[in-house]
Amino acid sequence: MAERFDYYMDRCLYHPTEGFYAAGRGVAGRRTGDFITSPEVGPLFGAVIARWLDARWDELGQPANFTVVDAGAGPGTLLRSVEGASPRCAQAWAPVNVDPNGNEFTQPELPESLEGCVVVANELLDNLPFRIVERTLAGWSELFVGEGEEELHPTMYVPSFEIALGRRAPLLERAHQWVHEVQRRGAHSVLAFDYGAPTTEELANRGGWLRTYRSHQRGDDPLANPGEWDITTDVAVDQLPLPSNVQTQAEFLRAHGIDELVEEGRAHWQAHAARPDLEAMRMRSRINEATALLEPTGLGSWLAIEWRRT
Ligand SMILES: C[S@@+](CC[C@H](N)C(=O)[O-])C[C@H]1O[C@@H](n2cnc3c(N)ncnc32)[C@H](O)[C@@H]1O
Repeated sequence: MAERFDYYMDRCLYHPTEGFYAAGRGVAGRRTGDFITSPEVGPLFGAVIARWLDARWDELGQPANFTVVDAGAGPGTLLRSVEGASPRCAQAWAPVNVDPNGNEFTQPELPESLEGCVVVANELLDNLPFRIVERTLAGWSELFVGEGEEELHPTMYVPSFEIALGRRAPLLERAHQWVHEVQRRGAHSVLAFDYGAPTTEELANRGGWLRTYRSHQRGDDPLANPGEWDITTDVAVDQLPLPSNVQTQAEFLRAHGIDELVEEGRAHWQAHAARPDLEAMRMRSRINEATALLEPTGLGSWLAIEWRRT
């Protein structure tokens, strides 16, 4: 029996024993491959996020209890590197890692109330199961999957976007709902990093938005070997709740002081190069980490999307 693409994707990724993210498979597999998420590049990403968090803490009036949630935390690397950067807000913060496929340091669900909390999500929205629609002469069709074959079924569904005839686009209902739910629970701000484009039309015209990954390669067929590949999409910002700010990752990191942190690293290294210790090596590594995080055709082109409570 053919099933809708989002149900198929849900099973491929999150089936408790067969899914890509079943214990010990997904996140580790992705980390050892040639595709590395920003927090896994090294501690510099977290050091910049630490500065952004300090600004949010100040904005909130430096509360004595400041909950910071990393949603889709994987192994929890991001908040560990934030902590390592010793931000001012660390005196008040309670770090919470949320991931249904995480480890003993993560919780499976978001806290019920997010009042006064800040939520960060790196590469989560692209990983939430999505539907796929195609613009046809007769209206819209939807992609179903059965026995390794795809089927297009006509649908009455009318998306809020328009794309060219014959093109396909992801339908990001769950990503939309996720952001909406975080807002509904009262989060002060949400910061998501994802590959994507401002509009669905742009994604559909560009193509290549459906991405599959396995440790050493990017694939192109989500129907091949279900559960063996990560399935993701470029995120179309126009399908999400209206953000307060959208920048590229490079713009965001620069706006929050990455260049200064790299300069500090370079100066520290030069001062200690004759007898380098671990700290000096860590500071020197900021230079290479910044190159990877700002790469114009790679991580630097990811989008940093912010929602602020007004
Ligand atoms: C691509 S990984 C990113 C991991 C980490 N943020 C990083 O940047 O290295 C996406 C993570 O989102 C998690 N995830 C999937 N659905 C989720 C949900 N509804 N809430 C929280 N996390 C979820 C997956 O288990 C996976 O660990």
